[in-house]
Amino acid sequence: MRLAARTAAFTPSATLAITARARRMRAEGVDVLDFGAGEPDFDTPEHIKAAAVQALREGFTKYTAAAGIDDLKDAVCLKLKRDNGVEYRRENVIVSCGAKHTLYNVCMVLFQEGDEVLLPAPYWVSYPEQIRMAGAVPIPVETGEADGFRSRVQALEAACTPRTAGLIRNSPCNPTGAVLDRKDLEAIAAFAVARRLTVISDETYEALTYDGHEAVSIAALGEEVRHRTVVVNSLSKAYAMTGWRIGYAAGPVEVVQAMGIFQSQVTSNPTSIAQRAAVAALTGPQDCVRAMRAAFAERREAVVAAVNGLPRISCVRPGGAFYAFPNVSGCLGRRAGGRPLGTSADLADYLLEEARVAVVPGMEFGSDRHVRISYATSKATILEGVRRIGEALRRLR
Ligand SMILES: Cc1ncc(COP(=O)(O)O)c(C=O)c1O
Repeated sequence: MRLAARTAAFTPSATLAITARARRMRAEGVDVLDFGAGEPDFDTPEHIKAAAVQALREGFTKYTAAAGIDDLKDAVCLKLKRDNGVEYRRENVIVSCGAKHTLYNVCMVLFQEGDEVLLPAPYWVSYPEQIRMAGAVPIPVETGEADGFRSRVQALEAACTPRTAGLIRNSPCNPTGAVLDRKDLEAIAAFAVARRLTVISDETYEALTYDGHEAVSIAALGEEVRHRTVVVNSLSKAYAMTGWRIGYAAGPVEVVQAMGIFQSQVTSNPTSIAQRAAVAALTGPQDCVRAMRAAFAERREAVVAAVNGLPRISCVRPGGAFYAFPNVSGCLGRRAGGRPLGTSADLADYLLEEARVAVVPGMEFGSDRHVRISYATSKATILEGVRRIGEALRRLR
């Protein structure tokens, strides 16, 4: 059957692909350790599951309003006020099937042919694809490893052209774990306002910051920048709810309305019972989030120390999220057996086959000098996985 020409430009999600490959190997009996998955290994907290069960029992199983139920929009407003100090009303909020879906909707209503969208690199794998699906062009803007992968206005300014329509920023960042502080964000906010750019602020990992880092929402930095910003967030990472598929956006009414119309023709509402579970997550006790964050913080120490003890690779200390992003340039250009390792993808293949450890090649995130290690897994798995990586790296010539 003929496929539409646009499908030629689609690329599969590298992170999902590596996880699927690791799962397949496991099903075949290979003992693979998965550092690829971008999801908490914790179970969804009981009180959240109980809310979904209650919704089921009550027969809350029909279509809801396409843009989400009012109770959940109110819960999102409450959360944004409580955690971020920003006031939004119901009409500023839309609920979608995860932040990935939310971001796609945002791109579709905000960007068009001829637009350029600034993307601090390394970036999450789906941003460039979604920008391109909307007909616009992603413009990667390098951030420096020595600078903790923080986006700097000077670099953003240098990449700006009359076609620049917006900027996607993600803090804490997947894959680097970089967290922008208030001062960094104030500079970016002033730049966006001066250049009249739309800011998409992906705050998916907001709940997971360490070392006293505060995850500030750029929308909280004044009315001018708030009017130019769409905040995107998710229940997936903070509440271990990846499979429930609930994410949301808060922004100017006209943007949210356009997203609602688009969503009403594409997916209709996110799952009814998952929405009720999300209300419980956002309005219920938050100690589950703190407990998971404490566990991630401990694992972060373990992974950074272990990786930095290995030959030929080094890792900056991530301030948030649950990823380490070690620099592997010391491994590239070497050989494993007879096989040359020219790229981060070659190295990831080698580690999967020889060390039985799944990592994601950095090239998928816009840096071929790195690989991503997810530490959303037990400490024992982290230590064993890094040990295996070390063994495999010592065999490089
Ligand atoms: C930076 C970032 N944004 C958005 C998402 C999407 O999350 P979800 O669709 O599960 O809400 C992810 C998931 O990995 C992510 O890493």
